[in-house]
Amino acid sequence: MKSQQIRQTFLEYFKKKQHEIVPSAPMVIKNDPTLMFTNAGMNQFKEYFLGNSTPKNSRIADSQKCLRVSGKHNDLEEVGVDTYHHTMFEMLGNWSFGDYFKKEAIQWAWELLTDVFEIDKNSLYVTIFEGDSSEDLERDQEAYDIWKELIAEERILNGNKKDNFWEMGAQGPCGPCSEIHVDIRSAEEKQKVDGASLVNADHPQVVEIWNLVFMQFNRMADGTLKNLPAQHVDTGMGFERLAMVLQGKQSNYDTDVFTPIIREIETITGHSYGNTKEEDIAIRVIADHVRAVSFSIADGQLPSNNGAGYVIRMILRRAIRYGFTYLNKKEPFIHQLVNTLAKQMGDAFPELKSQKNLIHNVIKEEEISFLRTLENGLALLDAMVESMKKENTKTLDGKKAFELNDTYGFPKELTRLILSEQGLGMDEEGFAAALKKQQEDSRKASATETSDWTVLNADDSQEFIGYDRLSADVRIAKYRKTSSKKEGELYQIVFNMTPFYGESGGQTGDKGYLESPSGDTVYIIDTKKENGQTVHLTKNLPKELGGTHRVSVDKSQRMRTAANHTATHLLHQALRKILGEHVEQKGSMVRSASLRFDFSHFSKVTPEELAEVENFVNARIREQLPLEENRSQTYEEAIQDGAIGLFGEKYGDVVRTIKFGESYELCGGTHVKNTAEVWHFKITHETSVASGIRRIEAITSDAVKDFFSEQSQHFEEIKAVLKNPAKNPAESIQHLLEENASLKKEIEELKREKASQLKNTLIDQAKNINGIHFIGTSTDLDAKSVKELAFQLEQELANLFLIIGAENDGKATLTVMISKNLVEEKGLNAGQLVRSLGKHIQGGGGGQAHFATAGGKNPAGIPAALKEAEDLIIQQA
Ligand code: SER
Repeated sequence: MKSQQIRQTFLEYFKKKQHEIVPSAPMVIKNDPTLMFTNAGMNQFKEYFLGNSTPKNSRIADSQKCLRVSGKHNDLEEVGVDTYHHTMFEMLGNWSFGDYFKKEAIQWAWELLTDVFEIDKNSLYVTIFEGDSSEDLERDQEAYDIWKELIAEERILNGNKKDNFWEMGAQGPCGPCSEIHVDIRSAEEKQKVDGASLVNADHPQVVEIWNLVFMQFNRMADGTLKNLPAQHVDTGMGFERLAMVLQGKQSNYDTDVFTPIIREIETITGHSYGNTKEEDIAIRVIADHVRAVSFSIADGQLPSNNGAGYVIRMILRRAIRYGFTYLNKKEPFIHQLVNTLAKQMGDAFPELKSQKNLIHNVIKEEEISFLRTLENGLALLDAMVESMKKENTKTLDGKKAFELNDTYGFPKELTRLILSEQGLGMDEEGFAAALKKQQEDSRKASATETSDWTVLNADDSQEFIGYDRLSADVRIAKYRKTSSKKEGELYQIVFNMTPFYGESGGQTGDKGYLESPSGDTVYIIDTKKENGQTVHLTKNLPKELGGTHRVSVDKSQRMRTAANHTATHLLHQALRKILGEHVEQKGSMVRSASLRFDFSHFSKVTPEELAEVENFVNARIREQLPLEENRSQTYEEAIQDGAIGLFGEKYGDVVRTIKFGESYELCGGTHVKNTAEVWHFKITHETSVASGIRRIEAITSDAVKDFFSEQSQHFEEIKAVLKNPAKNPAESIQHLLEENASLKKEIEELKREKASQLKNTLIDQAKNINGIHFIGTSTDLDAKSVKELAFQLEQELANLFLIIGAENDGKATLTVMISKNLVEEKGLNAGQLVRSLGKHIQGGGGGQAHFATAGGKNPAGIPAALKEAEDLIIQQA
């Protein structure tokens, strides 16, 4: 069965069981501070488990793109080394939200695997949770009893909390789970070793394929477990592993999910898979990582220096490093795999096709820059090895190895490998200690402690009313305290409803204030969105928590933000019109002060194009287009109707659309009622963010007014300085620049003349000390002229010993020139000499034996230096 068909069969099976099939959520998570990437199929449903909102359908199934490279679920180091872990993988899952529970979940999983996919029952094992007394959790007898009806009892194994109690992260929904493992070893091997003993023992051919989680609890910040409002099912099956089993392979990498890419790697690198262990690992690492990186770029997450972008950069660098070391690829090549990947997976994930060029360019650019880093690191490491050899040390200091890694991005494994090739080692403990220290320092700097919610009104729906109103009388639903080094102590408050817009979709959160029933005022310094809730941040709590509070949004800030958001839509429209339909939004930041818009475009936007874009947006503002808002379209209807949605953004079933004339987008942000309120649009910067991605920064409304007032003030100042207000200042400045250039030229000529006069004087005054022409003099010529003078004198006077002391801007330089024959015959050395003469001018220097210079801060010492040089010549000549 081809992998496409396996995916399809899974989805159809659950469709028949009344499950709604939904698309995969983006792999990069935007509105959950506890999670960077989707690490399980259930992430996008977290709010349903917690009871924060209710799904339209209580049965759902999908294939979810997951990435397990950070936090609680991190498989990165295993990937490539073994044959069944991945950074990015597809998780096939079915869910029940307060609907069916253990019985159906287990029976259906069994039926699908053994009847539909026809996996031999005798190669399967299942595990159930054995209980945990420290948490007061009982053995999952219910699951055991259900399994007993389906599979021989000796194939039902007990599992501990680590394996059979599934938790999403440090906090959040969790519960006991029952896993299905498959033994794909040969009959002979099965005879020798009992498969049951290999379950959960990291055996590459006895692997878990499906995990059925029975969500019952919420892990609180204080570590305790609380019952969830309802019981749910969350299952996750490893798609690539299932393909391995169904295609009769021994490794995920031998299935049709990976073979096309592996063939391409073989062709490009000339290394074949199945050759040596190292080459195989490298090929697997690259085949795996190119998927993770490509999918995340398609989701809008580019490699960068922080957060999720940094993790992506590290994954790509791991692949480059394996190629560099084990496949001897010193040139960028991973980007060449994108084409094959898009061809192979583009039908199931069309974003790979539509974003192919961008993914290709971004990866290539990253490869070029990291290969440069590797070259620089190699040079640094070479120098370290040299000095180790000189000092006769066998182990590279751990701190130095760490610095190489941390400051220069040079990978530790490569350091270790290169050292071992030279018979040297690395101080692993020292490295680990330096790493630990750095991690602790950064954890301390960024750690946030969050207490559990104190719930005042459990049933509050937390409705957002801020599209229509800027103030409201509300009730506190719940609150909690957070503390971090960066932000200090803050409170997070959730109301039963709110006019405050929580930061999302690139628009910053509202600010404002709360008036409590007892009359005190609390400032709301920011508003965020977390797992479907609007969270208000304050520095303190109102004196009285119960009762009705009046909350009000800062109106002027909201108005300026709305103007910038509307302008962002018009800018998007303008770019697609003027630069072309290939322009896709790649990020945006809408604040009250300014807006920033990132988009795909292959070249710099020219000043003419920028002017056109500005004019286009301003024309829409002049047209006074009214806001046409629709809050109740389905996603499909809106897209059909021509609205633009963003890839990598998670939309609900019902979406909101915003239309101003022909600008038509899916958007949850706040907007002006009429484009006239934007007043004017002005682009302030156009730059590049990454290969193929440009950024435009712009301002609107009051900020434009401030911008132009400031500009006009500068203009007045310039006119005042020029003291000739009648004339065009640009012409006057041009005139001044020309005058300046011609004066510079004149000065140069005068200097040259002066130097040539000086040259003649010096030749006349040269002393003959036993056949050596000695010249010692001081001057105020600049360094360049002194050097020219020295070389001219060398041409004209044989057997020359020349020393010139120059004073410029309070600093001293000494220049020594010695004819080459004297260097050889008399053993004179200009380099050594200036170093020792440098003490007179309180400085130092060096150079070659026949020409050298020194610089210092004491011009008063020049005569003494000249004297010492002359004495030396008298002695040595
Ligand atoms: N959440 C569980 C897992 O990730 C099952 O989907 O394994």
